[in-house]
Amino acid sequence: NRPGRIIVVSNRIPKGDVPAGGLVFAIHEALSGGGGLWIGAADPTEQALDGLTPIGSGIYDRATFAITEEEHHGFYLGYANSVLWPLFHHRPDLLDIQDGDFEAYAAVNRRVARAIAHIAEPDDVIWIQDYHFLMVAQELRYLGVKNPTGLFLHIPFPNPTDVMALPQVAALSSWIAAHDVFGLQTMRDVASADETLRHDPKAEQLPNGCWRRENRTFRLLSFPIGIDAKGFSDTAESAPTPELQLAPKAPLLIGVDRLDYSKGLVHRFEAFGDYLSRRKSGSVRPTFLQIAPVSREDVTAYQDIREELECASGSINGAHSDLDWTPIRYVRRSFERNVIAGLYRRADAALVTPLADGMNLVAKEFVAAQDPEDPGVLILSHFAGAAEQMSAAILVNPFDRHRFADSIERAIEMPLDERRDRHAVLRKTVFEQDIAWWTNSFLTCLRGVPRGYSDPD
Ligand code: G6P
Repeated sequence: NRPGRIIVVSNRIPKGDVPAGGLVFAIHEALSGGGGLWIGAADPTEQALDGLTPIGSGIYDRATFAITEEEHHGFYLGYANSVLWPLFHHRPDLLDIQDGDFEAYAAVNRRVARAIAHIAEPDDVIWIQDYHFLMVAQELRYLGVKNPTGLFLHIPFPNPTDVMALPQVAALSSWIAAHDVFGLQTMRDVASADETLRHDPKAEQLPNGCWRRENRTFRLLSFPIGIDAKGFSDTAESAPTPELQLAPKAPLLIGVDRLDYSKGLVHRFEAFGDYLSRRKSGSVRPTFLQIAPVSREDVTAYQDIREELECASGSINGAHSDLDWTPIRYVRRSFERNVIAGLYRRADAALVTPLADGMNLVAKEFVAAQDPEDPGVLILSHFAGAAEQMSAAILVNPFDRHRFADSIERAIEMPLDERRDRHAVLRKTVFEQDIAWWTNSFLTCLRGVPRGYSDPD
């Protein structure tokens, strides 16, 4: 009995070759196994008609749904990235609630649901990705679609107090309840989502941990996303040695992030500045390379964080640079994946120190890229989802600048034995709980949903 197709929905969809990392690569891997259909947003146009436009086929098919310029504004820049993103990253102070944005979000979610309802066959399973599509499952149920439907939330779940700042908070638990499986990155996120449901008088948790709401049973579970550890490790091993022009023996620290306020880049620069201030003169002269390509530039909060970061790097470099040394190299351009892999392998330490982050795959890629014989040190924030699996890293609180600076010093000075021991533990997790493990765990759970389980009339 052949399982049905997987139908995946994500906002981003590669229109050409699939880039070898991140969310899109995870989906590519998931579909490459048994085929299926991947649906994502087309580039915005003046008018948006219903239906899907195929953009290529191979082992699996790809198709886009249409979206207008106005919807892009309200759905993507507005509700998704100025309401849900800040709120789910514990920054209700950055919420920018504008009339019409939620309506655009709902309209796009409805169009996606109609497109799926039109093509779904009885054995298909539907796998929705991320915060852009929280309402699709509910729309599918309105349209009578009974297929097993799961959502994986790649970002954190808000805590129960913050969530009250969402204008649609009253509807949130009905959106969640329309899925069969609602997947989250960490146990901490599951606990927050459980807590939100506990505030809904219509929702009831069963003794087996499942939830029940208005005749539907659904599950909230954690599935920490992984990377293609073997592939990335091979890429790093064969990558060309980067031309960095560092002084011999000068330690290299690295950070690679989208320029986002959730990544804690200013805190990171300041902690590094703190470390530099107490460095004894004449000791090693480390370089901290921060690669931070800009993102979501039309959203004001992103313009603000960019200015803040540029001000911090300028002021720290001004205070500590010398004629032949610039401690912070802040680079906004992006690089090919093999160049990044080579940089990770060369680096003596990585600073992965977000203030809030669903998982953070840089932490896992850095570990996979290291040479186990002489590995670099991972400095990881407690607030990255990855910290739940990667406690062998040096865990830091990015808000505590002095201790953070202590950790930088410790990483730079860590003896080989300790580096090896920590790395071996981290590497094991990254290789065992890789992207294939994540995909299989989620899909096994979703496929295990009995037919009719979604709607036992
Ligand atoms: C995060 C989100 C993804 C998103 C990515 C890039 O990882 O979880 O859904 O695609 O950021 O953001 P962007 O807005 O450029 O798609």
